[in-house]
Amino acid sequence: MTMSVAGNQRQTYLRLVATLRPHWRSDLLLPDRIQKLLAGEKRFGSRDRRLYRELLYTTLRFLPWVDPLWDTDPERAAAIVAWLAADGPATANYRAELSISDPQSPVSLSAKAAFLKLNVADLLPTWFARECPAAFTPAELETLHQRASLWLRLQTGHPEQVTDELSNNGWKWRMTSPLPEAIEISDEVNITACASFRAGAVEVQDLGSQLLLHTTMIKADGRWLDACAGAGGKSLQLARILGLQGKVTAHDIRASALTELQIRAKRAGLRNIVTTGQPPEGTFDGVLVDAPCSGSGTWRRAPHLKWITHPAMVMEYATRQLNLLGQFAAAVRPGGQLIYATCSLNRSENESVIAAFLQNHQDFRIEPPFRDFGYQTSPGGITIMPSRHNTDGFFVASMRRR
Ligand SMILES: C[S@@+](CC[C@H](N)C(=O)[O-])C[C@H]1O[C@@H](n2cnc3c(N)ncnc32)[C@H](O)[C@@H]1O
Repeated sequence: MTMSVAGNQRQTYLRLVATLRPHWRSDLLLPDRIQKLLAGEKRFGSRDRRLYRELLYTTLRFLPWVDPLWDTDPERAAAIVAWLAADGPATANYRAELSISDPQSPVSLSAKAAFLKLNVADLLPTWFARECPAAFTPAELETLHQRASLWLRLQTGHPEQVTDELSNNGWKWRMTSPLPEAIEISDEVNITACASFRAGAVEVQDLGSQLLLHTTMIKADGRWLDACAGAGGKSLQLARILGLQGKVTAHDIRASALTELQIRAKRAGLRNIVTTGQPPEGTFDGVLVDAPCSGSGTWRRAPHLKWITHPAMVMEYATRQLNLLGQFAAAVRPGGQLIYATCSLNRSENESVIAAFLQNHQDFRIEPPFRDFGYQTSPGGITIMPSRHNTDGFFVASMRRR
């Protein structure tokens, strides 16, 4: 008897799982490993790669639900993953044939858990309940276990040129967020192949990351230091907010990230960004410390981090963050602004770092948010929870130096 297309795909998926299983609770760079594994399968087309990527990421997202089944009933594990995977052109046939139940229902995660007689809360590590109790509410659990949307930030005054191209590609897009320059695409698409992207009319930036700088009032024309600029997601946005008379000095210890930043700045036509691998001297009107963190706000895009991160690692990040904040606070001029941000939802990396910093730096004071976008604010800052606007999770605190 010949096997159906979906049956063959299931065999391939199970083979990929067997290759990755020894690494998925230990390899911080698992997304790179998956990328290389899929790229190495020369017979795969782009649709195959999308299918397997979605199945593998779903597996990682729902690991506690399927992990116990690999040795005893791998076909049931595969059927559950097929059911939980996002629907789309690449997954539709596979899901229709192999899902454990109707692929279109039930819609809610809690109903899925009830069907499988499993717990939704098991999908997050237990230690996370102490770090971010708000993530365990039904709305957050639901959002945290969906595939993340692609968010774009417009860098042009002619949005229709971008949206026309997205529509002509047959992609569903929305501009319904609180920011007029943000566009959401829920399908998996290759935006880097678009003319609009190549011309710098849009950049990829999660909406949560975009909202972060808008929670505070950043005056045009200022001179800012982006102390941990990476490849410049926020430097580019900041440079647009500051305008032509303003200037961003983008610093990072990774030279490769700064090279990428320069490419992106050029593509966006931004001339008010300079990069430096050395911590700059002097003071600035504002300093942004977008600190290295555990990334617990990005678990939708990097679900393997849920199973690799542990409390001691979180505390190591907190120590590093406090040191970085102290180091770069010295570059804020009297009366200037200091913004601390992470893509973590862990209190230890967020409110606790701010509390410890303020205790040692009596010349800084927390500023209330200029806009809160409906998020809960605490005396220490704002936590951008994913469910409110379908974003990654972030934390931001804005302070002013006396
Ligand atoms: C969260 S990422 C920055 C993301 C970036 N701001 C963006 O919006 O795309 C943190 C960055 O901190 C950098 N970093 C780590 N230690 C640093 C240090 N001592 N000084 C400056 N940057 C550092 C890392 O290389 C990394 O690029």
